[in-house]
Amino acid sequence: MTSTLTAPAPAGPSTVRPGLPVAVLGLGVDLPAEVVTNDDLAKVLDTSDEWIRTRTGIAQRHVADAADATSDLAARAAQRALDDAGIAAADLGLLLVATTTPDHPIPGTAPLVAARLGVEVAALDVNAACSGFVYGLQLAAGSVLATGAPVLLVGAETLTRVVDPADRTVRVLFGDGAGAVVLGADDRGSLGPFDLGSDGTDPSILWREATGTRLPVADDDAGRTYLTMRGREVYRNAVQRMAASSRAVLEAAGLGLDDVDLFVGHQANKRILDAVVDRLGMPPERCHVTVDRHANTSAASIPLALADARAAGRLHPGSRVLLTAFGAGLTWGSTLLTWTTEEPA
Ligand code: ACO
Repeated sequence: MTSTLTAPAPAGPSTVRPGLPVAVLGLGVDLPAEVVTNDDLAKVLDTSDEWIRTRTGIAQRHVADAADATSDLAARAAQRALDDAGIAAADLGLLLVATTTPDHPIPGTAPLVAARLGVEVAALDVNAACSGFVYGLQLAAGSVLATGAPVLLVGAETLTRVVDPADRTVRVLFGDGAGAVVLGADDRGSLGPFDLGSDGTDPSILWREATGTRLPVADDDAGRTYLTMRGREVYRNAVQRMAASSRAVLEAAGLGLDDVDLFVGHQANKRILDAVVDRLGMPPERCHVTVDRHANTSAASIPLALADARAAGRLHPGSRVLLTAFGAGLTWGSTLLTWTTEEPA
C-alpha cells in the first residue's frame, strides 16, 4: 500500500513538481548527557567494539537519565525548536509526537508534551516506528495547509528501555534522543512529494510481541515485552525499501540525483546507509551520518541528523534534502525538503 501527497503539477512544459509551500521554521534536539561506548557494553555483554563498528558503524549511544521518559526528552527538544523558530507554543495548530516508545500505552505522549509546553493544542502520536518522522512530515504539511497555523513535530525515543539488557543482538544497536521541528507556511520552502508505504503481513520481523491487546502481559511473557528482530531480514528490507522509495520521490518530483544537496536517511546502521547510497548512485559524501555517535534512535534519528547537519554547516537556504526512512510495521517513507533558514549564530 502506498500513498503520495504532491502539489499539483505546475502549468507549462516543466515536469518538476515543486512540493508544498511549507518550511522548517525551527529545529531543536535533546540528547541525554550519558554516553555509553561500545567498550562500556563489552564489559557487560559478550560483544566487542570491533564487532559493533564493523557490522553497524556505531561507536557510542546516548542513554536517557533514569528520571526521564520519552515525553521529557520530547518536551525539551520541542521548546528548543519553538525558541529557534521564535514561535510561542500557544500559536501552534497541532503537536505531533512520532514515537514507538511512548510514556504509557494510554494516553499518547503528545498531550503530555503539550502540557509541559503549557498549552492545550491538538496533540497526537504517530507510530510508524523508525519511519514516524517522515510520516509526521506529511501529516504536518497537510495541517499547515489546512489551517495556516504552524505544527510542532517531535521525533522522540527511549529505546534503551525496551531492549533486553542481556540480548547483545539488539541492545548494541539502539540509543535515546529527541529532535523537533516547527513547520509553517512559507513560499520559499518546499516539502514533498512524499512516498509512504507499509507492509504489515509479518510484523514479527521487528516487534515487541507483548504489551498490546494481542498478547497482554503475564509474568511468563516478560521476555516478549522486549524488542526483537530478525536482523538480516530487516537489513535486506531496509536497503530495498529506502532505495526504491527515494527513487519514487525523485521521479515524482521530476528531479535527479544531481538536484539533491544532502541525503539524510534513517540512521539504523552505516552499512544500510552505504548500501542505499550505492544503489541510488549517490556520491557517498552527500550522505549525512550520525549513527556512529547516536546509534539507532528510531523516529528521532532524522531530526537529530538534520540538526547535526545544520551544526556542521551543511544546510543553507535553498539546500534540497532527500529524507528516507524504514522501520517496524514494516513501514517506509521518503520526501524532499528545501531548507530556508541560515544556521543560527
Ligand atoms: N556482538 C558480537 N556478536 C554478535 C552480536 C554482538 N553484538 N550480535 C550478534 N552477534 C553474533 C551472532 O550471534 C552470530 O553468531 P553465530 O554465527 O555464532 O550464530 C554472528 O554474530 C553473526 O550474526 P548475524 O546476525 O548473522 O550478523 P550480521 O552480519 O547479519 O549482522 C546485524 C547483524 C548488525 C544486526 C545486521 O543484520 C543488521 O544490521 N540488521 C539490521 C538491523 C537493524 O538495523 N535493526 C534496527 C531496527 S530497524 C531499523 O531501524 C531500520
